[in-house]
Amino acid sequence: MSSAPPPVEIPKLTSLPLVIETQRLTLRRLAERDVEDLWPHVSNPEVATLMSWAAHRDKAETLAWVRGRIEAWDQGTDLVWAIEHEGRACGTIALGGITWGFSAWRVDRAELGYWIGQPLWGQGLVTEAATAVTRWGFETLGLHKITIGCIEGNERSKHIIDKLGYRFLARFEDDVWRDGRWWHHLRYEMLASEWVDSTRTLRFNRPRLP
Ligand SMILES: CC(C)(COP(=O)(O)OP(=O)(O)OC[C@H]1O[C@@H](n2cnc3c(N)ncnc32)[C@H](O)[C@@H]1OP(=O)(O)O)[C@@H](O)C(=O)NCCC(=O)NCCS
Repeated sequence: MSSAPPPVEIPKLTSLPLVIETQRLTLRRLAERDVEDLWPHVSNPEVATLMSWAAHRDKAETLAWVRGRIEAWDQGTDLVWAIEHEGRACGTIALGGITWGFSAWRVDRAELGYWIGQPLWGQGLVTEAATAVTRWGFETLGLHKITIGCIEGNERSKHIIDKLGYRFLARFEDDVWRDGRWWHHLRYEMLASEWVDSTRTLRFNRPRLP
C-alpha cells in the first residue's frame, strides 16, 4: 500500500458536484419533504435494530432527524444523501464524521453508513449506492481513507462491505449495548490507494475470454 500525500487545499464541498446518479438511484441532499416517504421505513424496528438509532415513534422525530442531517451537511461534517428510487426517498447513505485535520495531523477520512427500507432489501440497491459513494469519496472528495463497521450478524451489510473490498480490521468485543445485550462490532477500512472500482474493472478492464 502506498499513499499519495494529502492535497494542500482542503476541498470545499460547495465547489463539488453533490448529486450522485447511479443506474437506478439518485443520491441527493435530504429535504424536509422526504419525511413522508421515509417515515414507514424509519419507524420500522427491523430497519433500526442493527443501526445506532431507535425506530422513530412519530413523524416529528423524523422531521427533527432530517433537519439535523441537513444542518450537518451544511456544516460539511456529515454528508447524508437521500437514496431516491423511482422518485421517492427510501433510505439514506452517508459519509459521516468527515475529518481533514486533527491537531497537527492530516487524516482526510470519513465513515460510510447506510440503510434502506425493508421492501427494497435484496435488490442490490445499497451495493449500488455504496459503490457510488465510495467512488465519490475517493475520486471527487479526495478522501485518503473511508472506514465502515457493522454489527456482527448483519450478514447483508457484511456482504456489501466485503464485495466493495473494504479491508477487515478487527472484531470489537462487546462493543455496543442494545436490547438487553452486548453486540460485537466488525470494523473495516479502505485507503484511496486500495480503491478498485470493480464496476469499471468488469466493464472496461477485464481481459476478454477467448
Ligand atoms: C443491510 C442493508 C443496507 C442491505 O441493503 P440491500 O439493498 O438489501 O443490500 P444489497 O441487496 O445491495 O446486498 C445485500 C447482499 O447480501 C446478501 N445477503 C442477504 N442475506 C444474506 C445472508 N444471510 N448472508 C450472507 N449474505 C446475505 C445478498 O445476497 C446481497 O448480495 P449479492 O448482491 O451478492 O447477492 C439493508 O438490509 C438495511 O437497510 N438493513 C437495515 C439497516 C442496516 O443494517 N444498515 C447497515 C448498518 S451497518
